[in-house]
Amino acid sequence: MERHASALALVVGSGPDLPVHCLRPHAASKAADWFVRRFPGDVLYAVKANPHPAIIDAVYAAGVRWFDVASLPEIELIAGRCPGATLAFMHPVKARSAIARAYFDFGVRIFAVDSLDELSKLVKETGGARDLHIITRLAVSSDYAQHKLSGKFGAAGPEAVMVLREARAIARELGVSFHVGSQCMRPEAWRVAMQSVSEIIRVAGVTVDIVDVGGGFPAAYPGLTPPPLDAYIEEIKASFEEMPVLENADLWCEPGRALCAEAGSHIARVELRKGDALYLNDGGYGALFDAAHDGLVFPAKLLREDAVHRPLAPFRLFGPTCDSIDAMEGPFLLPADVNEGDYIEFGLTGAYGAALATRFNGFGDYIEAELADAPMLTMYGGAAGAANQSQSVIALHDAVQEY
Ligand SMILES: Cc1ncc(COP(=O)(O)O)c(C=O)c1O
Repeated sequence: MERHASALALVVGSGPDLPVHCLRPHAASKAADWFVRRFPGDVLYAVKANPHPAIIDAVYAAGVRWFDVASLPEIELIAGRCPGATLAFMHPVKARSAIARAYFDFGVRIFAVDSLDELSKLVKETGGARDLHIITRLAVSSDYAQHKLSGKFGAAGPEAVMVLREARAIARELGVSFHVGSQCMRPEAWRVAMQSVSEIIRVAGVTVDIVDVGGGFPAAYPGLTPPPLDAYIEEIKASFEEMPVLENADLWCEPGRALCAEAGSHIARVELRKGDALYLNDGGYGALFDAAHDGLVFPAKLLREDAVHRPLAPFRLFGPTCDSIDAMEGPFLLPADVNEGDYIEFGLTGAYGAALATRFNGFGDYIEAELADAPMLTMYGGAAGAANQSQSVIALHDAVQEY
């Protein structure tokens, strides 16, 4: 992979014809190191957020040994790259063949379920195994999250109680898990979720060995400045102590976005300008999926050597495909004279960026490059320390806006 000091150095040097997927493995290592040190339990990296080998290696090098995998290809990837890793197959709906291969060929013992039918698939396809760690995914509110995850998975009410009781009868260890939704802006979301999970455990009357508080930990985007990550850890710690689980129960989390968002950025070129609309060579079917489909605003930086201190203006963006939903409302603040041929770097695209890119309309080829500079915004605020994370995020955001 090419290496450059910054995105600006890259475009000045080569004027790339394709969009560029920039990787900052050092940022993934820093984030993973923070979680390993501060989270009072085991940290499972949610591979789906960014399965690039350079990111997996960076997270592993920082000490993450547990991985939340959702498919056989993710299992193969981690098993092949990360010696000694523990794999947790956390997709609540799995192909029978995937269950069997995970258990027999890859030694996976941790499986998530959210229904009695999935539980019976698990029993059958593992040959009635008695060494399973069964994690029951429970439905919780997504009210505080930017990206809701409450519509698809998670057992609720009497079914949740039945799944917990049946799983307890089979499992070596029984866990509960939930996901408060991605990019969760409020630490209290975990308190609310852990209280509602506690209620279900009480009704089920089961002994619980593992509490998995899922992902949802935020990154800092323009207009979305979360509280410091320490506030999330404190809320989880305090809520865990109140839960009706074994005194020595294990606590897990499954961060995806928070470990890799800062580790990626994307460079796109302006192919045409029409008023306040910029037509780019990357977009909603590419690495900027979340900007088109989730309304996320990535920090944007014009890559021109003289771009500093120019007046900014708001822009809408369009991706390269012929579909009109390949549009990003933003607004994205860029120097007012941005025009055809300019390159723009979008920061914080490391989570669910390249991982979601398609080849629709013949687009989807990228150059890959590793960059040495710092991410545009960060939750891991260097010397300022955790207590000052919010301030450092805001300061960095203001710096990006200033030009
Ligand atoms: C089961 C599970 N765990 C963890 C994650 C990671 O979530 P996030 O990237 O919000 O931390 C996801 C994301 O969809 C998920 O489905």
